[in-house]
Amino acid sequence: MNKSTAYANANIALIKYWGKSDVRLNVPAVPSISMTLSHLGTTVTVESIDKNHELSDPSFKDSERARLFKYLELVREFFPYDGHLRITSKSSIPVSAGLASSASFFAALATALNDHFSLKLAKKELSILARMGSASAARSIFGGFCALGYESHEDAYAYELKSDLDVAMVIAVVDQGPKKISSREAMNITANTSPFFDNFVKEQPKDFDKALAAIKDGDFLALGKLMEHSTLKMFATMWTALPAINYWKPESLGLINLVYELRNELGAVFFTMDAGPNVKILCPSELLPQVLSKVARSGLTVDIRSSALGQGAQIINEHLS
Ligand code: PMV
Repeated sequence: MNKSTAYANANIALIKYWGKSDVRLNVPAVPSISMTLSHLGTTVTVESIDKNHELSDPSFKDSERARLFKYLELVREFFPYDGHLRITSKSSIPVSAGLASSASFFAALATALNDHFSLKLAKKELSILARMGSASAARSIFGGFCALGYESHEDAYAYELKSDLDVAMVIAVVDQGPKKISSREAMNITANTSPFFDNFVKEQPKDFDKALAAIKDGDFLALGKLMEHSTLKMFATMWTALPAINYWKPESLGLINLVYELRNELGAVFFTMDAGPNVKILCPSELLPQVLSKVARSGLTVDIRSSALGQGAQIINEHLS
């Protein structure tokens, strides 16, 4: 049987997506901005089979497996295909630990499906296809800095942003284990119960516009400040949900304090976090060695990865067996 394989890098949101306006189609309630990582991502191979979808990756939980099969049926509604699919995947990042593994997985999957069914989708449509699996995946179709639209199914696609900013990201891993509550579930609880959620949605387009300008103008300090503000506003909605959602660990706060120290010493160093306890540190590339060495000496991490701006999803010729 013919196989199609694609690789996609993970991406980390600088202006956060949190909450959906359409749960079934995964349309974000807010616009977001991200940077695509380099060398941290997922390879996915797709193959047609006769009966029942299959996923040959034991690291997926049952709920994630169910979510994938539901996605493959959603794809069938938009692009009818016969039979079923066997999906094989391999990731260089721990799955479901708030390290954007679902973004790289669904971006690689959509790219492989586009090839497998000869859909000939333009990048915009491909981004929409990836978004239906995981909204953040829409952004991993592209490299560099990306924006992701919102409001409606047709508007919620990602596009690349031009910039001269030369940035690096340190991923300070404090826990590799899978999160107890998925971002999907956490978003729904937050949107339904936090008194702060509506304000987050209302404020976000302003942060988005300012961050677009900062990226265009190469204003790293403005971008870093907006990123931290967007991150903490997102967590404020989680902490005030019922039940409260808290992904942070003592080490997370330790690393945030370390970022404040680094900022005092070096200037341009900022943090963000996602649906997990791990801390991502953004800095201009020239500060990467100093940031890495301080994080490594902190004793707060179980693993440290670093990344430059990476490329968008692409088809590759080596299939996973
Ligand atoms: O696309 P999901 O379901 O993996 O949600 C991503 C949510 C955040 O990582 C917290 C923010 C973002 O924009 O990536």
